Amino acid sequence: MKNSYSNIFTFNKKILSKTIKSLKNGDVIGLPTETVYGLGGNAYSKKAVRKIFKLKRRPQFNPLIIHYHNIKDAQKDVVTNKYFEKLYKLFCPGPITFVLKRKSTSKISRYACANLKTVAIRFPKNKTTRAILKKTDFPLAMPSANKSSNVSPVYSKDVFDEFSTKLKIIINGGKCKVGIESTVIDLTSHPKILRPGIIDKKVIENSLKIKILAHKKKSKILSPGMMKKHYSPGIPVVLNQKKHDGKSAYIYIGNKHKNKRDFFSLSEKHNLFLAASNLYKIFRIIKKKGYKKIQISKIPNYGAGIAINDRISRASKF
Ligand code: TXA
Ligand code: MG
Repeated sequence: MKNSYSNIFTFNKKILSKTIKSLKNGDVIGLPTETVYGLGGNAYSKKAVRKIFKLKRRPQFNPLIIHYHNIKDAQKDVVTNKYFEKLYKLFCPGPITFVLKRKSTSKISRYACANLKTVAIRFPKNKTTRAILKKTDFPLAMPSANKSSNVSPVYSKDVFDEFSTKLKIIINGGKCKVGIESTVIDLTSHPKILRPGIIDKKVIENSLKIKILAHKKKSKILSPGMMKKHYSPGIPVVLNQKKHDGKSAYIYIGNKHKNKRDFFSLSEKHNLFLAASNLYKIFRIIKKKGYKKIQISKIPNYGAGIAINDRISRASKF
């Protein structure tokens, strides 16, 4: 089995130059970020972007996030504003994505942005990916490295499980610390959260000193990550479960069921950041163990718990 991970590499200078060469050539590679692993390709290259959509089997109307090393690079492609500048200073590089107006001179492939007049941009914190972004003269279009509607990967081996050797390079960056995807905030008009993450609405409100909007469940799809079924572990997921049914995997927070078979704690110490960070990891463990169904207990709906509830609610639309 050792050979089956032959395309997973530890980052070093040699891999850095190999990766840069590969990206310049229009290839798509698996990269670690602080949130989840991504499938990165040259955002200015239609060829690379098309490859990403094909590999992920992603619908063309679902735009990609464009990743940059710094604000100056991003300003070549988007129109920035005061809210962006404030949040950039406070949280970047970090797990937050900004939707901004596209500049008419931008070279980003229209295909990457699903022909929209806006672009979602992000500045990932992971050192490896930042080193790569620093060395390229193009940003990276980078969705999570999973097939469309699956759970995002948090280990390099998860990326391999999704795409096997279809990727020439997967860079190992260990476990992604944040463990769920970035917060997506639309800043093209009054700020609005499109996808909750660990940087939550309250923290952003306090930073901007304004009230911001969270998307309404019934509103039209602004961000396809808002599609109902998403982040699915591939088996039924049921929420707000008070009692274990005796056979399913049971996910909860705390240590009440420590060392009991079928019970999986997201965080023994009730830490919601850790709970978010363990969610996808535990989904994949449960699936590999062969369980047929996942029960999840009620998860507190504040802070990082809002993002957890968003993901598990979509995972339950099986
Ligand atoms: O943490 C993350 O954001 C990860 C890592 C790899 O950076 N990336 C990620 O990408 O989650 P993806 O493609 O799985 O999710 C991108 C989300 C989707 O919900 C997409 O619809 C939304 O961002 N999005 C992209 N461009 C947009 C735009 N112009 N307007 C609104 N939503 C947009
Ligand atoms: Mg995704």
